[in-house]
Amino acid sequence: MRHETIEKRLNLMMVLIVVAISIGGLVEIVPLMFSADATEPDENIVPYSALRLAGRDVYVSEGCYNCHSQMIRPFRSETERYGPYTTAGETVYDRPFQFGSKRTGPDLARVGGRYSDAWQRLHLTDPRALVPESNMPAYTWLAEKMVDPELVTTKMQALRFLGHPYSDEEIAAAAAAVTGKTEMDALIAYLQELGTNRRNRR
Ligand code: HEC
Repeated sequence: MRHETIEKRLNLMMVLIVVAISIGGLVEIVPLMFSADATEPDENIVPYSALRLAGRDVYVSEGCYNCHSQMIRPFRSETERYGPYTTAGETVYDRPFQFGSKRTGPDLARVGGRYSDAWQRLHLTDPRALVPESNMPAYTWLAEKMVDPELVTTKMQALRFLGHPYSDEEIAAAAAAVTGKTEMDALIAYLQELGTNRRNRR
């Protein structure tokens, strides 16, 4: 009888469905917020340097994540190809994380150091010069756009407010570290670091 009362009242049923689904969600999500595995950085994981932080923003604003994931799943086919699988603890300084959901191109979570800076520069300027069948766009304008030193400083201050352990010295040195650098330089510095602090770990 009682279920009949619910089934005959659409509004009540909708509310109860939402409540039921929320419990499932909360049980999965809330414990993660208190788990050190998901909230504390892994060993060797430090916040991005000023130049790499600027490069990461170029990565996000150019939409590289639309074709590249940064999330190696814990399957043999993935770890054999890309390297150690991704952990939550190595992405705590990624706001927002760049896991991505589509791989038109390969995963980039461990691409740091795989190619030279010169390779990366040429690849970003003219991908088909290196990989003739590539459908990756060329990003020639990045070599002309300069990184804004003031903006990087403000971003580091904002990230510190959110809990990233930047020191006063690091923030004070940020503007000088990116002055005269192009967005291309910053993006390459970012790419060359990806996964290097996880290389030897499984
Ligand atoms: C339209 C999809 C697309 C977009 C957008 C795209 N890429 Fe790619 N990318 C590819 C494909 C496909 C490949 C593999 C062929 C090649 O190397 O060019 C690739 C390869 C790469 C590689 C070499 C990876 C390896 O392990 O060999 C890097 C590094 C890379 N892309 C960086 C970037 C960056 C940085 C951006 C944003 C500025 C970007 N890509 C945007 C499709 C894309």
